[in-house]
Amino acid sequence: MTAADSKLPLRRFGQTELLVTPLCIGCAPLSDMPRVFGYSVTEAQALATLRAAFNGPITYMDTAGAYGDGESERRIGIVLREIGRLPAGYILATKVGRDPRSGDFGGEQVKRSIERSLRLLGLDQLQIVFLHDPEHTSFEKAIGPDGPLEMLLHYKAQAIIQHIGIAGGPVDLLIRYVETGAFEAVITHNRCTLLNRAAGPLLDIATRRGLAAINAAPYGGGMLAKGPDAYARYAYREASGAIIERARRMAALCEEYEVPLAAAALQFSLRDSRITSTIIGMSHAERVAQTLELARHPIPDEIWPRLDRAGFDTDDL
Ligand SMILES: NC(=O)c1ccc[n+]([C@@H]2O[C@H](COP(=O)([O-])OP(=O)(O)OC[C@H]3O[C@@H](n4cnc5c(N)ncnc54)[C@H](OP(=O)(O)O)[C@@H]3O)[C@@H](O)[C@H]2O)c1
Repeated sequence: MTAADSKLPLRRFGQTELLVTPLCIGCAPLSDMPRVFGYSVTEAQALATLRAAFNGPITYMDTAGAYGDGESERRIGIVLREIGRLPAGYILATKVGRDPRSGDFGGEQVKRSIERSLRLLGLDQLQIVFLHDPEHTSFEKAIGPDGPLEMLLHYKAQAIIQHIGIAGGPVDLLIRYVETGAFEAVITHNRCTLLNRAAGPLLDIATRRGLAAINAAPYGGGMLAKGPDAYARYAYREASGAIIERARRMAALCEEYEVPLAAAALQFSLRDSRITSTIIGMSHAERVAQTLELARHPIPDEIWPRLDRAGFDTDDL
């Protein structure tokens, strides 16, 4: 199947003309970040994953310059050059932000970040660029003169960037960015999962304002896909005993219904009408087909209130 034969429904990306699938391929794990994910990913494995992704029906992909300090974009660029171009109808989003060495998050740094993304991906235009992890600078500096937002708008005015979004962690901070009216999309991560639901107010505001609301890390970075005993980490760090216990209760509950915990975790996000698309990280080629199966796995309605009762956090991480 090619990307053009998409069997997934398409959704409008906020108020833009772009159409995205409700599932999105997340390219953080395939950049090889052992400190974040706890395992390494070879280039060959990453390229095989990307080839499967570009040949499958999920036609929305998410990366960032920060993933492996350019390695995710470099690997995507290799496969795009093999294919010859971004497949028709495909939407590729990236993110730009601070210099990981100096911490510089100014406008000139963001310019370097944009130029590097263009070069590594081998593209002359970027469809969607998110300002990445703004918690690493102040709100005032980010939206002020010579700051990163100004630089993104400069590239947008030149049509090198088509659409801009904001992607990061703290919910209250992201709400402030959404309320500027400057962004067309927002990514929240690890905060709209079976285990943590802190992103609720952000999703409400984003939806009300017509932004594309993108939910990243429905598995909390892996725990809800691999299981709390196989992978006892949530949001890129060791999980607390309380989180592990809850995840175990959820896994046991899912087992009663013969539902994989991963299917419940994924569909928890997919069934939320506020969410435009859900980004799933992966670093194995077979994950593309597995993700489609998990998204379609039958789940009885009665499981949802029972999963709620297993407990979840509403505090920000
Ligand atoms: N600040 C931001 O904007 C931000 C923050 C976080 C995430 N994101 C984006 O959202 C994406 C998703 O987040 P994430 O990757 O951190 O976490 P995630 O999607 O919650 O989980 C990814 C993990 O789940 C595993 N996994 C996926 N499908 C699986 C399956 N069918 N069976 C077993 N394991 C499976 C992956 O394993 P394998 O590696 O073994 O395939 C990987 O370890 C990222 O890749 C990134 O694109 C953005």
